[in-house]
Amino acid sequence: MPDHSPVPSYPDRLRLDGKGFIVVGAGQGMGRQSAHALASVGAKVVCVDIVDVLAVQVAEEVGGIPWVGDVTRREEVERLVTHAEAALGRIDGFVDIVGMARWGGVLDIDDETWNFEFDICLRHAYLLGQIAGRRMRLTGGGSMVFIASVSGLTAAPNHAAYGAAKAGLMAWVKSLAVELGPHSVRANAIAPGSILTPRIEAQLSQAQIDASVALTPLRRPGVPPDIASVALFLSSDLASFITGQTLIVDGGVTAKFPYETL
Ligand SMILES: NC(=O)c1ccc[n+]([C@@H]2O[C@H](COP(=O)([O-])OP(=O)(O)OC[C@H]3O[C@@H](n4cnc5c(N)ncnc54)[C@H](O)[C@@H]3O)[C@@H](O)[C@H]2O)c1
Repeated sequence: MPDHSPVPSYPDRLRLDGKGFIVVGAGQGMGRQSAHALASVGAKVVCVDIVDVLAVQVAEEVGGIPWVGDVTRREEVERLVTHAEAALGRIDGFVDIVGMARWGGVLDIDDETWNFEFDICLRHAYLLGQIAGRRMRLTGGGSMVFIASVSGLTAAPNHAAYGAAKAGLMAWVKSLAVELGPHSVRANAIAPGSILTPRIEAQLSQAQIDASVALTPLRRPGVPPDIASVALFLSSDLASFITGQTLIVDGGVTAKFPYETL
């Protein structure tokens, strides 16, 4: 029997014309590239950063709206969501890339480091998911994309607090997906491997970059557009049946058998 089922326009399913998005941590690296990616297919973007000059600069680049504040604070996220909804008409989605690792072994981490990690990797995801989620439930749905890490899936020495917070983020994404799915809200995460963002590149020697590339099946470093491309895909209707997932973007590192082979 020939298949005569309708064929959609796949390029149209990538478009975000007239849609309103927030990029959280838009000032540089993955956030800046995500703002460009969303704007390039027609989205209007509120560019959020704690550093005012970065928020303003990226908003100028993408024809978006700058917003400056600290998204680890509830009252700031309330202010952001109110502002974004007024500026965009409605919030169709957001990409939240905020996160940072402070290293420490399990026997040495102090409470300050533990709390810092859970604020900078998880608390803003809880606040944004909840506060923007309430609006999306009322307005008919939306998309949420968060940046997790392979450190939340596999362990390495000194990654404990960061990894625990990122694992928590991936669990939070599943809860958002399950509870908000009936309201047409999708929530997904991306777990990057090593990505040469401007901040990370400044911390690494060329020898460290080369060593990381040698361990990567695709034999090149990850770069911010690799993550922004996936954030765009997950934000678009191409991913309209994907929710509660974490997509690993690591050049194949976690696909590898970890032991020496013959
Ligand atoms: N770079 C990597 O190798 C790598 C690997 C795995 C996961 N990640 C994750 O990717 C994400 C992005 O990492 P990156 O290195 O590109 O980050 P980055 O430090 O380059 O960018 C983060 C942006 O968020 C802004 N920001 C920080 N705190 C904020 C706050 N409280 N409120 C609002 N804005 C704030 C910063 O000013 C900055 O512009 C993080 O979640 C990180 O954990 C990175």
